[in-house]
Formats: sequence, structure tokens, C-alpha cells
Amino acid sequence: MKRSLLTFMTLAALSTSLYAYSQADRIKDMRTMAQALSDVQKGILYNNKKLVHEGVSHLKTASGNIQIAPKNAMDYSSVFAKDQAANIVKYADRLDKSMKEGQKHAALTEYTSVLNQCVSCHNKIRKWNR
Ligand code: HEC
Repeated sequence: MKRSLLTFMTLAALSTSLYAYSQADRIKDMRTMAQALSDVQKGILYNNKKLVHEGVSHLKTASGNIQIAPKNAMDYSSVFAKDQAANIVKYADRLDKSMKEGQKHAALTEYTSVLNQCVSCHNKIRKWNR
């Protein structure tokens, strides 16, 4: 009896973490990513590798959350969102590596690639496309 209650609660907690991604959560992650990107830009300008690295790490954590997007509520599919998130992580890793190697121009190019992922998703949201 106790065990099945525990199983039920574990499953409930799991499904909550998988599906209850609200608009408020989304906005929070978006703001985290925007802040992370501005830290990255600052880090490149100030030659502060640690700041770049921290920004990249925040960016990657938050972008991992945005893959869950219900198609009925949004104007894009969750598959698209997943691809965007994967691209953000890929370019962010390259950016971090370039910065570590002192390649600031390369880091900036990758920074732009990340930003392009953000904007291409935002452009898919109809009300932002005007
Ligand atoms: C898969 C789609 C998707 C991707 C990728 C994406 N966004 Fe968003 N973004 C959204 C949606 C959806 C909203 C909310 C739009 C609304 O309902 O107003 C949003 C809103 C925002 C906002 C406004 C938050 C507010 O306070 O209202 C910011 C800032 C933002 N995104 C930054 C970013 C940054 C930075 C990236 C890239 C690192 C990014 N987004 C990538 C879908 C995306």
C-alpha cells in the first residue's frame, strides 16, 4: 500500500517535471538566456573567459528546458524547438572553446549563430513577425 503510494507520487512528480512547463517558466528561461548572452558579449569585450564560460553554461541549462512546447498553444512544433535548443548548445560549446583559445572573432561569430537561433524561433511566433 505504502509502496504504491510512493510510486504514484514519484510518477506524479516526474510527469509534472515533464509536462507542466508553463508560459511563466518559458519567460523565465528566455530571460535567463538573454542575460546569459549579454554576459557572454561582455566577457568577449572584457577578455573575461570566466564570464563567457558562465554565460555559456547558463545558456545551455535554460535552452535545455525550452524543448517542451505544445504545438496547440504555440506556433511551432516541439521538434523544431528541440532542434533550435540542440543548435544553441552546439554553437555555445564552440563559442566557449574559441574563447578559451583566445579566438575572439570566432567566438563572436558563434555568438551570432546562437542569436540567429533565438531570432528564427521568435520569427515563427506569428505576432512577432510583423
Ligand atoms: C523554440 C523557440 C524559441 C527559441 C529557440 C528561443 N525563444 Fe525566446 N521566446 C520564445 C517564446 C515562445 C517566447 C514568448 C513569446 C510570448 O508569448 O510573448 C519568447 C520570449 C523571449 C523573450 C521575452 C521574455 C519576456 O520577458 O517577455 C526573450 C528576452 C527571449 N525570448 C530571449 C531568447 C533568447 C536569448 C534565445 C536564444 C538563446 C531565445 N529566446 C530562443 C521562443 C523561443
